[in-house]
Amino acid sequence: MGQHFDVVVIGGGPGGYVAAIRAAQLGLKAACCEENPYADPKGEPRLGGTCLNVGCIPSKALLHASRLALLAREELAAFGVEVEGVKVDVGKMMARKEAIVTQLAGGIRTLFRRNGVTFLPGRGRLRGERGDLWEVAVGDEVVETRHVVVATGSRPRVLPEVPVDGAVVCDHTGALSWSSVPERLVVIGAGVIGVELGSVWRRLGAEVTVVEVGARFLPSADADVARALQQALERQGMRFRFGCRVEGVQVNGERAIVQIKEGEVSERLEADRVLVAVGRVPYAEGAEEEGIRLPRDERGFVAVDEVCRTRLPRVWAIGDVVRGPMLAHKAMQEGVMVAERIAGQAGMVNYEAIPWVIYTDPEVAWVGKSEAELKASGVRYRVGRAPFAANGRALGMGKGGGFVKVLSATESDRILGVHVVGEEASELVASAVVGMEFSAAAEDLARICFAHPTLGEALHEAAAAAAFGRAMHC
Ligand code: NAI
Repeated sequence: MGQHFDVVVIGGGPGGYVAAIRAAQLGLKAACCEENPYADPKGEPRLGGTCLNVGCIPSKALLHASRLALLAREELAAFGVEVEGVKVDVGKMMARKEAIVTQLAGGIRTLFRRNGVTFLPGRGRLRGERGDLWEVAVGDEVVETRHVVVATGSRPRVLPEVPVDGAVVCDHTGALSWSSVPERLVVIGAGVIGVELGSVWRRLGAEVTVVEVGARFLPSADADVARALQQALERQGMRFRFGCRVEGVQVNGERAIVQIKEGEVSERLEADRVLVAVGRVPYAEGAEEEGIRLPRDERGFVAVDEVCRTRLPRVWAIGDVVRGPMLAHKAMQEGVMVAERIAGQAGMVNYEAIPWVIYTDPEVAWVGKSEAELKASGVRYRVGRAPFAANGRALGMGKGGGFVKVLSATESDRILGVHVVGEEASELVASAVVGMEFSAAAEDLARICFAHPTLGEALHEAAAAAAFGRAMHC
């Protein structure tokens, strides 16, 4: 028998690597295995999972780069800054993105060394129980451990009628690495990936059509916020086709024909590239060896309780492979919670205060309940709204679109949800998360002194509008 550990984490994404580091910090002998589908060009293993390698981090690098290109081309003139001869070098953008990913992936290896986490390259498979130990096969080796944390993440959902070839028809991995700007891009799915990566390529000059089977844009977002974002993206030239079913895609050389059906009407869309972004599915089988099956819930996720325990003794599961939003920060918090529970502490995740962010322009961010959710649950609530058009800082930045909306309970004034569409919504929502975590009332936020002039004042004003029925500047 090979090495012995207190905790073996299967999967080195944001949930897994954080769980391993926290476990080691608490004095446990911890290892983390990673099957490493994202080897760098030298074949070196790269930790960080989907988020770091082909998700959050590279997409934000490209969103920022493409935003700068658009600024230089179209928007700086309004500030009195004339720029001529703007050129976009997609290769350089990609190289910069790649360098960021490589730097951060190396950083996780350094953190493992500093904290004493053993890195086990190779796919980890739960093999079976021997007494109060689990055997985990990693590559050709078998290690023993008291606890196992399954953090195998998720995979893109595949549409049988739209096979991904990685060249013309791609999922997000491909669309983060195209070496040239497609003339016409069809995005299948108006979800988070569709709007973020659709934005990148639209800003760089592609004609972008987003085909969505549902009737509404971003159904999980508050309806006012979703409407505002859709309108902004349409102004930027993105086209949306709702209620459209994709019947198939034919690829002919470097061109694709996407066959769609809207009601009874069939149509063919021509494209140079197709991005399939129709959701993700849990990858539980990634941690299983023949004869072992992790218990699943009715939707195919690994079934866990509120502290991420599976029904198998001392086997835990976290991140995209279990219920809840598929968000890196939710996975990280679960990693911390599980490591602390294994160490005998009382780690917790407050699932009511997990923020969502969509990194479009304008950004969208929210925490807590939407108006539709509050109406459906029969809760009586008040709405306070503050537009960025009345915010001096936003106007100075040329970002007067969008608003902050605070929803608070009518009886208690407790904040139930905060929704932001506008510049730096991703940063603004953090104050709302702090408020909700400490069960703040809208009046609490309204009475705190916010610096002037800041975008945060819109949150202050929206809270005042919810608490007192009025704000100072709107
Ligand atoms: P998603 O669930 O956000 O959106 C998928 C969309 O595809 C939905 O609107 C759905 O109705 C539509 N769809 C499904 N089948 C379709 C079909 N056959 N034809 C047309 N449309 C169809 O999933 P997405 O965008 O793939 O992202 C996956 C996950 O990744 C998200 O749930 C999110 O948790 C995570 N993510 C988070 C980001 C962030 O936090 N900023 C960024 C990117 C991804």
